[in-house]
Amino acid sequence: MLNKKVEKVLVEQIEKEGYSSNLYLAMASWAETKGLAGIAQWLFAQAEEERMHMLKFVDYVNERGGRAIIPGFDKPPTDFESVQSVFEKVYEHEQYVSKCINDIVGVCLEEKDFTTHNWIQWFVQEQIEEEASAQTLLDKLKLAGSGSLYLFDRDIMSMRGEATATE
Ligand code: FEO
Repeated sequence: MLNKKVEKVLVEQIEKEGYSSNLYLAMASWAETKGLAGIAQWLFAQAEEERMHMLKFVDYVNERGGRAIIPGFDKPPTDFESVQSVFEKVYEHEQYVSKCINDIVGVCLEEKDFTTHNWIQWFVQEQIEEEASAQTLLDKLKLAGSGSLYLFDRDIMSMRGEATATE
């Protein structure tokens, strides 16, 4: 049976992962309407990954005898200043999610829930990769400058997973 404090933070994380999915979906839609097809594709794929993260929390909570409550989500922003500001937001957001995952690890240890502690390690690793990939894209964008947005948009999907592949 799932420890109640652990269950509470896991259920809260369902909302955070679901909001992340909607945030990236909003960014994807913005990019698509700006004619940035590659960037949109990257963000749509990212939104899908976040939805899978949310479902992992739902599955785990229910499987362990807890109850996964599906929350409402805040409306994500609809407009973004620039591609750079989008990826700055992605990076900031992933840092925030990493902090949330680390807080869950802390609760697992406090409550001596070593089963969930073990399960959540997948997310600890995933956050390292997500932060690295956002940072890599930001670095490439800065290097490229706004004049090369066309090339960045063309090549972004091939950079997917590059941050971890080169580690
Ligand atoms: Fe599911 Fe990108 O955090």
